[in-house]
Amino acid sequence: MTRASLDKQPQDVATMFDGVAERYDLTNDVLSLGQSRLWRKEVARAVDARPAQKVLDLAAGTATSSLPFSRTGAYVVPCDFSLGMLRVGKGRHPWMPFTAGDATRLPFKDDTFDAVTISFGLRNVQDTDAALRDLYRVTKPGGRVVICEFSHPTWAPLRTVYTEYLMRALPPVARSVSSNPDAYVYLAESIRAWPDQPALAARLQQAGWSKVGWRDLTGGIVAMHRGTKPGA
Ligand SMILES: C[S@@+](CC[C@H](N)C(=O)[O-])C[C@H]1O[C@@H](n2cnc3c(N)ncnc32)[C@H](O)[C@@H]1O
Repeated sequence: MTRASLDKQPQDVATMFDGVAERYDLTNDVLSLGQSRLWRKEVARAVDARPAQKVLDLAAGTATSSLPFSRTGAYVVPCDFSLGMLRVGKGRHPWMPFTAGDATRLPFKDDTFDAVTISFGLRNVQDTDAALRDLYRVTKPGGRVVICEFSHPTWAPLRTVYTEYLMRALPPVARSVSSNPDAYVYLAESIRAWPDQPALAARLQQAGWSKVGWRDLTGGIVAMHRGTKPGA
């Protein structure tokens, strides 16, 4: 098994990420042409983690997405179900409380976190709605969710260039940097099949989140959705 298919069997997804763990961050930087750093800054701004607040970074992988929150003095828990990604992360950031867990059955009590966030992870979860509901369960009343995920460019010419050319270029470019270029065929396929911005917002609302909205980044190549758990 070198890559997951669109039915996103959890074992296949975890194995695929185990296989790219070592070179994951380097490949990310190259393929996003450095944009991933800008996206992470925007996510950190939206999460707005304060000292001593508890933040869950779900599908954290090697915890590159978790670092900006811990820099503010918040207590950040990186959680993921790929032991390969967790191992590489723990080697780089030994002080972080890496936790193995599945997004749809989170190993945390109800109402634990001030903020929950997931970057480039939700698209890979087999049951998106179950993950949105479990994120809601572990968030304190009044707490917030921030989801950063590839989305759909809103300007038609950019959408055409992106889907027709850039996405097709992904696997060949990945061949020169990634330990498993086939994983990037799955990346392109799963982005194409992912709900657009309003559709994902509706799924957040169905899971119970209120004040749901989103912001497009890089013309909608990435979208950042937000929501609040009512009842502070
Ligand atoms: C593209 S990586 C993102 C890592 C990190 N958040 C970042 O921004 O660099 C996606 C991660 O989602 C994790 N993942 C996918 N499905 C998951 C699930 N059901 N439960 C927990 N983690 C999951 C994978 O293991 C992988 O580490």
